[in-house]
Amino acid sequence: MKILSVVGTRPNFMKVAPIARALRAKRSGIAHLLVHTGQHYDAKMSGSFFADLELPDPDFNLGIGSGSHAEQTAAVMIRIEPILLEQRPDVVLVVGDVNSTLACALTAKKLDLTVAHVEAGLRSFDRTMPEEINRLCTDAISDLLFTTDHFADDNLRREGVADHQIHFVGNVMIDSLLAHLKSAEERNVHGQLGLEKGCYATLTLHRPANVDHADKLAEIIDAIREALPDLPIIFPIHPRTRARVADFGLSDRFVITAGKPGIFLTDPLSYTESLNLIRHARMVLTDSGGLQEETTFLGTPCVTLRENTERPVTISQGTNRLAGTRRPGILDAIAEALRMQPCTTRRPDKWDGHAAERIVEVLTTGALRP
Ligand code: UD1
Repeated sequence: MKILSVVGTRPNFMKVAPIARALRAKRSGIAHLLVHTGQHYDAKMSGSFFADLELPDPDFNLGIGSGSHAEQTAAVMIRIEPILLEQRPDVVLVVGDVNSTLACALTAKKLDLTVAHVEAGLRSFDRTMPEEINRLCTDAISDLLFTTDHFADDNLRREGVADHQIHFVGNVMIDSLLAHLKSAEERNVHGQLGLEKGCYATLTLHRPANVDHADKLAEIIDAIREALPDLPIIFPIHPRTRARVADFGLSDRFVITAGKPGIFLTDPLSYTESLNLIRHARMVLTDSGGLQEETTFLGTPCVTLRENTERPVTISQGTNRLAGTRRPGILDAIAEALRMQPCTTRRPDKWDGHAAERIVEVLTTGALRP
C-alpha cells in the first residue's frame, strides 16, 4: 500500500509527524511518501519543525514559496500533478486548512485518487476566512474524513457527508504534544528569557484580518497592553506580522527587554520552545487555531483574538475564551482569563495521544472507498 502525505505550512508539520510515526510502526507493506509544498520555507517556519518533530526529509519539495492565494494554490496543483501521476498512491492524505491542503486534495481527486482529510469538519461559519473556503472545499471532495470532535461530525453530516466516510479519531496535534512534552520541558525558554512560571503571557497574531490593517492591529496591541500593564508578554512574531508592524510604524508599542512588563518581540519559536512557553504562561493570547487546542489540553487559559472559532470544543470543554478584536471584548476576556486557574481536568474526548494510530488503522484495514 502506498500513502502520500502533504505538508505545506507550520501548523501542518505537527499533524503529519505522528501519522508518519504510526505508519513506520506498522512496517509491513506500507510505503509512505512525504511531499512538502514549500508554502512555508524559512528555517524558523519549517526546518526547525522537521528537526523537533523528527519528521523524515520530504521525498518531494515543490518549492512554491509565498504568493497570492491563487498563485500558491495554482503552483501547488501544477507541481504536484506529475508526482501523483507517476506515484499513483492508494491514498493522498492532507491535513488542516491551508492553501496547500486544498490544492493537493483538488488535484488528487481530479486524478480519481482516494483523498483522506485529517482535521475535517471544522467550521467557523465565516466565509471571509480563506481557511473556511479551504475546509469546505476539501471536505466536499474527500473520501475519508477524520475528525477531532463531535461538533465536526455534526457539521459534516449537515453538509451531506455519509456516516461511513466520517471517522472520529481524536486530535493528532495532541499526539505530537504528548510525544514532545518532555523535550519541551528541557528547552526552558521562559527561564532563558528571565521569566517566572505563571508570571508572563504569550501572544501570537498572524491572521490577515487582524494584522493587515493598521487600525485593527494597533487596537489589539493597545488593548492587550492596557489590560496587562504589569505582565511581561512574549510575542514570537510571524514574518507577515513583523512586516506589518514595520510598515504601520508600530514598533514603539514594544519593549526591548524580556522579563519586564510590556510586549517583547522574538523570532518565531521552534515547536518544543513554543510548547514550553505556553505550558507555563499565565495565559495565551492568540488568533491561531492550534494554540487554542494546545492550551485546552495543557489547561492554560486562552484568549482568542477573533470574532469566531472553528474549534468550539476548546470553549465548551477547554480553557478558551473568545475576545473578538475590539478593545472592550479584549479587556473583558483578559480580565476573565486572569480570574481562571490553570485547569487540566476537562479534556475533549479522544485527545489522548492515539489519534494517529486510529487513522492508520482505518487506512490500513478499512474500505478506502464506498
Ligand atoms: C498560512 C495559512 C494559515 C495558517 C498559517 C500558519 C493559508 C491560506 N494560510 O498563513 O491558515 O494559520 O499559514 O502560519 O494557507 N513568510 C515568510 N517565511 C515563510 C512563510 C511565510 O517570510 O516561511 C511570509 C511571507 O512574507 C508571506 C507571508 O509570510 O507572504 C504569509 O505567508 P503565507 O504562506 O501566505 O500565509 P500565512 O499567513 O503564513
